[in-house]
Amino acid sequence: MQSEKLLSIVNLDKSYGNHHPVIKKLSMDLYAGELVAIIGRSGAGKSTLLHMINGTISTTGGDIIAFPDSDTPQKAHLLKGKALRHWRSQCGMIFQDFCLVPRLDVITNVLLGRLSDTGTLRSLFKFFPKKDVERAIELLEWTGLINQALQRAENLSGGQSQRVAIARALMQTPRILLADEPVASLDPKNTHRVMEALQEISAQNIAVMVNLHSIEQVKQYCSRVVGIASGEIIYNGSPDGLTEDIQQRIYANPAS
Ligand SMILES: Nc1ncnc2c1ncn2[C@@H]1O[C@H](COP(=O)(O)OP(=O)(O)OP(=O)(O)O)[C@@H](O)[C@H]1O
Ligand SMILES: [Mg+2]
Repeated sequence: MQSEKLLSIVNLDKSYGNHHPVIKKLSMDLYAGELVAIIGRSGAGKSTLLHMINGTISTTGGDIIAFPDSDTPQKAHLLKGKALRHWRSQCGMIFQDFCLVPRLDVITNVLLGRLSDTGTLRSLFKFFPKKDVERAIELLEWTGLINQALQRAENLSGGQSQRVAIARALMQTPRILLADEPVASLDPKNTHRVMEALQEISAQNIAVMVNLHSIEQVKQYCSRVVGIASGEIIYNGSPDGLTEDIQQRIYANPAS
């Protein structure tokens, strides 16, 4: 059975101000159930790409089409206000530095994933609907952090923090999860737990797109890899096809 196409990126361009283009005519699709790695050297445009999908960075040209095969495909890069917030709830994002609220307890941090629906004032007083609390508990059980639920986020280890960030992103039950270097600051054991969690999420028919720096991790966990150099796709395919030659082209010094 052909997986559902969740995203179509067509001839995407990005320049910051009058600087050189950072992303150039980039086209790729994203399907439900995939765990896609984005690789490339520092400055290749990996973070810029994820942020444009999520609508936190504007595009300069091209299209990002959400749910292209559905009855109501949307140009995600043109969304504003409520429609943009709704898109972000369908397209969760997690970051290398977790972005948790340090002084709040773990479960409240997870519940903040529902902020766009709960409203700031209600969240401020920790009035969360019962079904949200139940979902947060379920997610904390799944990430193995239920015993830390009432602990302040600032007291967690890096690996624990990243799993809380993942739980928070899943509170909205997104169709797409974007992860910008989620394991860059983690030790091997925590890296494994987080990558395994991303694998389990993709197995739930969610499309996961993850910026990584390690080819080993790509080969161990990902179903597809997109290699970018200077904003252009060098390789888009199975991790098994990532030959030494292709890796060299992806990681080549752009000046050489
Ligand atoms: N706000 C900005 N203004 C101007 N240039 C920017 C801005 N953000 C990023 N850039 C430039 O865009 C290019 C791509 O940056 P980006 O952060 O997307 O790269 P990356 O592949 O994520 O790198 P890294 O692996 O270091 O995280 C870089 O040359 C960077 O300097
Ligand atoms: Mg980056």
